Amino acid sequence: MARIVAGVACSHVPAIGAALDNGKAGEPYWQPLFRGFEPSKNWIAEVKPDVVILVYNDHGSAFSLEVIPTFALGCAAEFPPADEGWGARPVPVVKGHAELAWHMAQSLILDEFDMTIVNKMEVDHGLTVPLSLMFGQPDAWPCPVIPLAVNVVQYPPPTGHRCYMLGKAIRKAVESFDRPLRVVIFGTGGMSHQLQGPRAGLINRDFDTRFLDKLATDPQSLAQLPHVEYVREAGSEGIEMVMWLIMRGALDDDAKEVYRFYHVPASNTAVGHMILENPTADVTLSLSKGERSS
Ligand code: DHB
Ligand code: FE
Repeated sequence: MARIVAGVACSHVPAIGAALDNGKAGEPYWQPLFRGFEPSKNWIAEVKPDVVILVYNDHGSAFSLEVIPTFALGCAAEFPPADEGWGARPVPVVKGHAELAWHMAQSLILDEFDMTIVNKMEVDHGLTVPLSLMFGQPDAWPCPVIPLAVNVVQYPPPTGHRCYMLGKAIRKAVESFDRPLRVVIFGTGGMSHQLQGPRAGLINRDFDTRFLDKLATDPQSLAQLPHVEYVREAGSEGIEMVMWLIMRGALDDDAKEVYRFYHVPASNTAVGHMILENPTADVTLSLSKGERSS
């Protein structure tokens, strides 16, 4: 059967993609950020997932305010990078895994999660920036990616608890797929940031740290956090963090935090990143002792 072996939490910021695409990753502003992802790139190169399920949000690129799916599952063979106003990012086309994605659609919908099935979709920085941070700048992405787009742009987004339970249903879907695939699930977006209004520029390191702590060790209580707390504490775009609970729900309850990175500044966003391994999975211990979360 297929197995989810690990989870990755990772922020997205369009300027991170622009820094990579325009050869600015070595500049003093960006260098500390990219250094923080070096251990993660080594880790995922050793884990060699067969498939990545990437939970992210679209920012008006594939879905406008005319159609707003709460949970949209990408079942297509491929997903081209979207033009977000300055041309499409010069990154590889994202290849999907239609067979597993359709199996997930069936399992999730029969499990009463009313997914929107998407057969044609462009993917924006919400999906491509986490891929770039984890896989660098290859000529082709090293494995198929199943996009799962979550509405966190237009009120009302799904609750953290619904996201956490969707993660559990995703695990069940993956484990009922009759092929020995090693799957890594990404939860992306966040951490604290607000792009608009009087509080634009808001960053809350204390909240972000508590969120990361609870994500690792007490996700069930984190799943009870109401939307208003995300918005008050982490800013209007901090609500993106509910997506991390989908990733966490898909892992073992006792998944182990093996790597954490937190960095400010990156444009307007506090960049948070965590890797969690399922103890039952034979994930390679590719993080050195100094890099590993204790
Ligand atoms: C920024 C962050 C986002 O989440 C986003 O979607 C766009 C911009 C930023 O920090 O610049
Ligand atoms: Fe965003």
